[in-house]
Amino acid sequence: RLKTWENIFKQMLINEKEWQTIWLDDSEKFVKVIDQTKLPHEFAIKDIKSSDDAALAIKDMIIRGAPLIGVMGAYGLMLGLKEDPSDENLERTFIKLQSTRPTAVNLNWALKRIYNLVKVCPLEERFETAKKEAKLIENEDINMCEKIGDNGLEIIKKIALNNKSKKINILTHCNAGWLATVNWGTALAPIYKAHRIGINVHVWVDETRPRNQGASLTTFELKHENVPHTVITDNAGGHLMQHKKVDLVIVGSDRTTIKGDVCNKIGTYLKALAAKANNIPFYAALPISTLDWDIYDGVQNIPIEARCEEEVTHISGLNSKGYIEKVRLVHNECKAFNPAFDVTPNELVSGLITERGVCLANEKAIKKLYQK
Ligand code: MRU
Repeated sequence: RLKTWENIFKQMLINEKEWQTIWLDDSEKFVKVIDQTKLPHEFAIKDIKSSDDAALAIKDMIIRGAPLIGVMGAYGLMLGLKEDPSDENLERTFIKLQSTRPTAVNLNWALKRIYNLVKVCPLEERFETAKKEAKLIENEDINMCEKIGDNGLEIIKKIALNNKSKKINILTHCNAGWLATVNWGTALAPIYKAHRIGINVHVWVDETRPRNQGASLTTFELKHENVPHTVITDNAGGHLMQHKKVDLVIVGSDRTTIKGDVCNKIGTYLKALAAKANNIPFYAALPISTLDWDIYDGVQNIPIEARCEEEVTHISGLNSKGYIEKVRLVHNECKAFNPAFDVTPNELVSGLITERGVCLANEKAIKKLYQK
């Protein structure tokens, strides 16, 4: 299947069929998404018919991943305008969607894009205008991610050239694959491109406690793309790096500051420290829409989402009867703290892989790339 011209250009596959994570229903009145809370055990499609459905889908992580949250936000505002196109409802829906997840900056970016357009429209045109723009954001996301894939591929190619005939081991954290975007993904896009042109890649997948997006989503994606992969505990990465079993680390980003600090799933920072200590390149792959132009120092200023204790105190999986079941891990009075993201300071980041090219993680390089 691989290496054929046709397959190189195909988007993401599940059982050889092309999919994307979100799409407008044929009626163009609501959207459909892949329900990510059920993967990898069940493949279910969910209808998102109202702005409340959209807010809940983001909050409960039926869809997740920074770029996809942005697209869902855009469609959520569209659904709000279908319900009531008034100024009051526009404000209300904007705030409702904006407050669902505070860290990923794309949500705000996409909401503002729709808001600014419809605000100056007559009421009867607001739904159609929002729909057109949301579709545009969806399609732009696919194109951006594909370009991130092309740009990141060059990094993998260089490593492959220096390691002739050797397998390239890439470590990734959380899920920054196509399930976190509309298609292709960010961190995984270069890996898919490399695999499809025949580079021998293997992916170390951090399980990514507490919600295990690595174990449940990244492995699901890689399996369906036939990319060799192995899941590891979150604490195993440093050990593998010390033993020269990692050639490259690629992660995604939920918010990147103008200085080049990268905010991503909790645990990313520790991987960056271990990569630096072991002289292993550590890249973040991100669309430019993930840049926050208002924040310089990410460690001090990026709001970190604190999620519920239950995500830490409990774990869910498939039981022996084939049902998804949640079980408690700790004694029933145990307190838990659950910060969902951390910030990797720019000095630990080898570079940023964007749709406009790869740049160093510093203000000068980011601004230069943006002006391009
Ligand atoms: O909490 P999640 O699952 O939305 O977090 C996802 C991540 O941290 C991803 O790495 C990030 O959004 C980059 S997405 C391409």
